[in-house]
Amino acid sequence: MSDQRTGAGVDLHLDLDPALTRRGAVERAVREAIRAGRLAPGARLPATRRLAVELGLARNTVAAAYDQLVAEGYLTARRGAGTRVAPLSRPTTPAVATAPDAPGPRHDLTPGSPDVSAFPTTAWLRATRRALLAAPAGAHGYGDPRGRVELRTALAEYLGRTRGVQATPERIVVTSGYVQALALLASVVDGPVAMEDPGLPFHRDVVARAGRAVTPLPVDERGATVPDGVAAAVVTPAHQYPTGTPLHPARRRALTAWARDSGAMLVEDDYDGEFRYDRHPLGAVQGTASDHVVYAGSASKTLGPGVRLGWLVLPPRWVDPVVDAKLYADHHTEAIGQLALADLIATHAYDRHVRGRRLRYRRRRDRRRRDLLVRRLDALGLPVRGVSAGLHVLVEHHDETAVLARAAALGLAVSGLREHWHDPRAATRQGVVVGYATPAEHAYRAALDALTRALTA
Ligand SMILES: Cc1ncc(COP(=O)(O)O)c(C=O)c1O
Repeated sequence: MSDQRTGAGVDLHLDLDPALTRRGAVERAVREAIRAGRLAPGARLPATRRLAVELGLARNTVAAAYDQLVAEGYLTARRGAGTRVAPLSRPTTPAVATAPDAPGPRHDLTPGSPDVSAFPTTAWLRATRRALLAAPAGAHGYGDPRGRVELRTALAEYLGRTRGVQATPERIVVTSGYVQALALLASVVDGPVAMEDPGLPFHRDVVARAGRAVTPLPVDERGATVPDGVAAAVVTPAHQYPTGTPLHPARRRALTAWARDSGAMLVEDDYDGEFRYDRHPLGAVQGTASDHVVYAGSASKTLGPGVRLGWLVLPPRWVDPVVDAKLYADHHTEAIGQLALADLIATHAYDRHVRGRRLRYRRRRDRRRRDLLVRRLDALGLPVRGVSAGLHVLVEHHDETAVLARAAALGLAVSGLREHWHDPRAATRQGVVVGYATPAEHAYRAALDALTRALTA
């Protein structure tokens, strides 16, 4: 970074955190000064040499901290203009932007979310910045209902490489998460939709609200069974939700044969396919029957549900109807987030993030560690299902109601299996669905302590 600015720039008081490295402490102090509004957009920072002298640090340390903050988008650096606070580095409506989230449960093991405190903020900032700078003006206008071609191209490559999906950008539609994808699919099929039993009740409601009758698709130890007399079936082959069973190879074949022979739509919800631990990766079913299977994916488990980005890879005959439904739903999904995700995937920062997360979640359920999930549940003698993949397990228990009552008293959020059955009175098993990826790292063990107590009579 150039430093012809000695003497220029605002006066700045920075408290450096001694627990951090020197560079990290400078970064954090400047970042917090910007976030708190003590450094206004456009304000010129002290020259590196001057700040280094004031703080008693090496000039390189300050320069490296500035460089990092430039990369994160907090600062801008231009030769001759010095280093300044970036124009958009502070929310303009702090009252709204800083409104706190509603308080959550004391211990959160609800399934459905990764550890959102591990969102890759720095990588996302870099990707958004690069994407915005490179975006053509057209990106800010109305665009293709299928979504940005940059993202569809990146997804076609990524899904082929990591999940064995047969995809071309023309067959991909970007959606606002899986939930919109499912609603669009339900709106274009003509007849009842079979949904796994047990399965996620919210998704049944989404299909019903799109005007389709929902029929139960029983799940056994081989995963979803083969439906009959429906226009579509929705399955979770990689890690059945909520039982955790992978779809047996014979069932994969039987289901694709059913779709081929009946002309019905088979929807593969690959919501946590990136996360597998002790077993060979199971490629997507779509890879073996791409003309009959709709592949659905989402960034909710890899990045966070707040991103609201999902995607469909469609058999050719379904492309036009789904694109038409998407156009009438919302024109298309918000463009800048799509461009940022395309950049994240193309630069492989997405792969690196997913790999890092996979290691973390695998460790959370480590069989060899007595204080971690699987050993604790083994010690209680409770059957645990779905350990080898995904972000949740099913813990079977003969008295689900009592477990949920104890959990509530402990401030622990978990999900009961009962609500997942189409008809809870016909439930054949009881238990709780535990989302072990949800808590932040520091809160994980306390959540497991609470779970152990809730499961113990
Ligand atoms: C079974 C299942 N499918 C899909 C999703 C992803 O949904 P969305 O992309 O709408 O967040 C989830 C998230 O919890 C899920 O549990």
